[in-house]
Amino acid sequence: MHEAPPAGPLPYYEDPSPGTGALPPRAWWAHSDARRVNLGGAWRFRLSASAGAEDESFARPGFDASRWDVLPVPCHWPLQGHGMPAYTNVRYPFPVDPPHVPTENPTGDHLRHFDLPDDWPGGAAVLRFDGVESCARVWLNGAELGVFKGSRLPAEFEVGELLRPRGNVLAVRVHQWSSGSYLEDQDMWWLPGIFRDVTLIERPEGSVTDFFVHCGYDHTNGLGTLRVDCEPRGTVTVPELGLDIPTGEPVIVPVEPWSAEVPRLYDAELATEGERIPLRIGFRTVAVEDGVLKVNGRRILLRGVNRHEFDPDHGRTVDPETMRRDVLLMKRHNINAVRTSHYPPQPAFLELCDELGLWVLDECDLETHGFEEVGWRGNPVDDERWTPALLDRAARMVERDKNHPSVIMWSLGNECGTGRGLSAMAAWIRERDAVRPIHYEGDLSSADVDVYSRMYADHAECERIGRREEHPLEDAALDARRRAMPFVLCEYGHAMGNGPGGLGEYQAIFHAHERCQGGFVWEWIDHGLRRRTADGRSYFAYGGDFGEELHDGNFVCDGLLFPDRTPSPGLVELKKVVEPVRIEADARRGTVTVTNLHDFADLSGLSFGWVYEEGGEVSDEGRLKVPALAPGESAVVELPLMPRATGRGEALWTVRAVLAEDTAWAPAGHEVAWSQFAVDPVVRGARSVARPGKPHAPRRAEGGMVVLGPGVFDASTGVLRYFNGIQVTGPALDVWRAPIDNDRGMDWYPQGQLDRQWRASGLHRMRHRVVRVTVGGDTLTVVTRVAPAASDLGLRTVSTWSSTGDRLTVAVDVTPEGEWTLPLPRLGLRMGVCPTMDQVDWFGGGPGEAYPDTRAASRIGRYRSDVDALQTPYVRPQENGARADVRWAELRRVDGSGLRIDGTPPFWMTLRPWSTEELDAAEHTHDLVPSGTLWVHLDHALHGVGSHACGPEVLPEFRLAAAPATFAFTFTALGDPGAPLHTLPEPS
Ligand code: GAL
Repeated sequence: MHEAPPAGPLPYYEDPSPGTGALPPRAWWAHSDARRVNLGGAWRFRLSASAGAEDESFARPGFDASRWDVLPVPCHWPLQGHGMPAYTNVRYPFPVDPPHVPTENPTGDHLRHFDLPDDWPGGAAVLRFDGVESCARVWLNGAELGVFKGSRLPAEFEVGELLRPRGNVLAVRVHQWSSGSYLEDQDMWWLPGIFRDVTLIERPEGSVTDFFVHCGYDHTNGLGTLRVDCEPRGTVTVPELGLDIPTGEPVIVPVEPWSAEVPRLYDAELATEGERIPLRIGFRTVAVEDGVLKVNGRRILLRGVNRHEFDPDHGRTVDPETMRRDVLLMKRHNINAVRTSHYPPQPAFLELCDELGLWVLDECDLETHGFEEVGWRGNPVDDERWTPALLDRAARMVERDKNHPSVIMWSLGNECGTGRGLSAMAAWIRERDAVRPIHYEGDLSSADVDVYSRMYADHAECERIGRREEHPLEDAALDARRRAMPFVLCEYGHAMGNGPGGLGEYQAIFHAHERCQGGFVWEWIDHGLRRRTADGRSYFAYGGDFGEELHDGNFVCDGLLFPDRTPSPGLVELKKVVEPVRIEADARRGTVTVTNLHDFADLSGLSFGWVYEEGGEVSDEGRLKVPALAPGESAVVELPLMPRATGRGEALWTVRAVLAEDTAWAPAGHEVAWSQFAVDPVVRGARSVARPGKPHAPRRAEGGMVVLGPGVFDASTGVLRYFNGIQVTGPALDVWRAPIDNDRGMDWYPQGQLDRQWRASGLHRMRHRVVRVTVGGDTLTVVTRVAPAASDLGLRTVSTWSSTGDRLTVAVDVTPEGEWTLPLPRLGLRMGVCPTMDQVDWFGGGPGEAYPDTRAASRIGRYRSDVDALQTPYVRPQENGARADVRWAELRRVDGSGLRIDGTPPFWMTLRPWSTEELDAAEHTHDLVPSGTLWVHLDHALHGVGSHACGPEVLPEFRLAAAPATFAFTFTALGDPGAPLHTLPEPS
């Protein structure tokens, strides 16, 4: 039971109503011939600890704020040295006591003095705020304009009467906490402030109050329909279509349609008596038909991401260049859709989506997830006192964004549970915009929506849903209704840390089932805030780094981009997995089958080429003629006659599809899709490492050593101590990895927290007991049992060393003992070598990181890197940097001397300037400091990565079960060791 609210009116910031004084919501437009003044720039600022700490005298003209700080508006004040950011995912960082907020309520008073331009005509004008978190009270020249909430939504006030030519005083009081905060529990930083533009806009007599562009496209006859409703009435001209029509009148004309793939826009102008507004019109029709989401009559496949607005220095204040950069990065990574999680973005972002082509799921600024912590008691979306605020938010989104062709669906919000308020929002939206489908994920019954949406459903469940065989709802009518809906994953592939794994397997399901129309990877960018250590090294901070009492750690860093917008390996993988052209080889026949997986575009924009490589070196290359296939079509194309193998090494074909011409989003030559295949698959991995040569025999030497070719071993432990005169550590069997976020899982998956289980089993503290060292014939054989304390599990390991010429080979046999139920993190050898060997060449998978379930983008080739560049800087350090399918690697010093490693079969190579233990202990990237050894991991197998930080575990086929294994490595000295012996520490 809830206490009765205290007597007396609530202060405005606690009142659940949306606010007072603002104009009715209306369409946004970028510009018109009406003048506008951007009021951004240097404002005066004062922070108080509570809402009522200061009186309102600051809003009066003449108030002296010269001793206040200066703040660059738009901004979040905690990122400007006033107070601190705070991060929670689900939990409210204040008592759940709606609509009350804490007395400690950081309150920022903002003051801006401005003059009007000399040619300002006078008359009506509006003052617009594009985004203020979370509640603002506004005065102009001492007169109060009103109060608004709804942080990521615009608010406008009529101000014409109050304006003066000179010395206007705009005063804004912003409270961090308000009743609105209960509706804004999105998983992100709590960041108060005037964080989007503030603009003064002239409203001449007869100017546009609002307009609604209704556009459709009939794919059966190629005709577009257009009707622009406008208040007041005016005309619309579309020169390219020869149209000059009154507003309100429909026309039907032949047009080219708009789609995310071919974003055809027509320049137009809306003119009323008092204003001319340039428009960009896109003709398209969105519909749910026969259980499928269609645009212009065709099923679309969403290759989407969830995008929060984020910048590591400015939080949710994102400048126009950054927005454009996001869209370009998306387009260049084959992404075609964006969910504006979990609030309408800055309006200009949607213009970019119209222009460059992205399907948009526009989501309302609404989340009440924290009520789940209290059994959803008091949830505002099921309490009619809040319904006006919910309707206000729906209207402010729909009215603002209704004219964008890119917006194909409205989303009511995120993670609010269920309630009548949501139904009211849906009903209002349907009434206002009958055309666009409605989305909301949080109500399993899907009663208010048009698409069945889920987050993080695993692959098996998606397959069942794809077959329309999902678990039934109790209510038969609702069940039948939902079963007839298209299905989207509004979130999947949780991109936290190393991962997400299993994307390719989702994509296969989207292709196999018409109903599964893709989804939106969670999420676009890590929200790490840039900070510096005392000694000036920059790093990204996450929850808990600002002294928060409650926080959710690095769960705020779960994006495909690092905070500085460098693509992570996850984005590179996604690009490959969702590529819109499939290239499949039939190496025996010498053909490739090319399939156009676009929904609208034919292949005329792409050119195809092939490369034939031997041993990683290009032998020949050329163009491939591929017809301009229509969407869904395939063609079989012949490769040129197989060049005769020259014996220079393994032969591989790569076929690539690249942009034939420059586009608005990437230059000609930009790679869109590719495939690589072996000419003779038998070649791969079959090459014997042992090359001819007379075997050396091991011999005992002084100091308790055994010498075998270039190797010197400790006779009692069988451990290699020197190779070719250089001191080395190991190699020894290794199973541990610094757990990735997906190994850690979340608290709500107790059974799945592999990290804990691994540690409980002692996999991070395995001991090596030497069972036997046998020197005999041509080999040195070392038997060890690798096992953790307090357990009878173990790995019996037989390492057989042999040597010919300057080469030393170890063949390893591993046999698990005991009842292993957990997967192993890795299985391979780790050795420490001199850190000056930090230049590496390899022949194998690259150029980037790959793990068993994230290896789609890895292609075989010859690569070169230094060790530093092989590290992936996950915001919270964790296992990273493996390269797949490595045949051989050469580690060199600057003088060219070094070590070559050949693997049979190919192996996973990871090189680090710190140990796994150091990586495991690090919390931030700046904790990692080279520790004097180059750690070389030569892995026979790795456990997959999955996306269990918030989603499915590693799929069974990528689990590394403890099982008998056999593998071998050959070490060869390169050049003259030259350098003096290097003393290495033992692993810490
Ligand atoms: C979802 C939520 C997102 C985010 C994600 C996990 O439940 O909608 O906002 O929290 O999980 O990162």
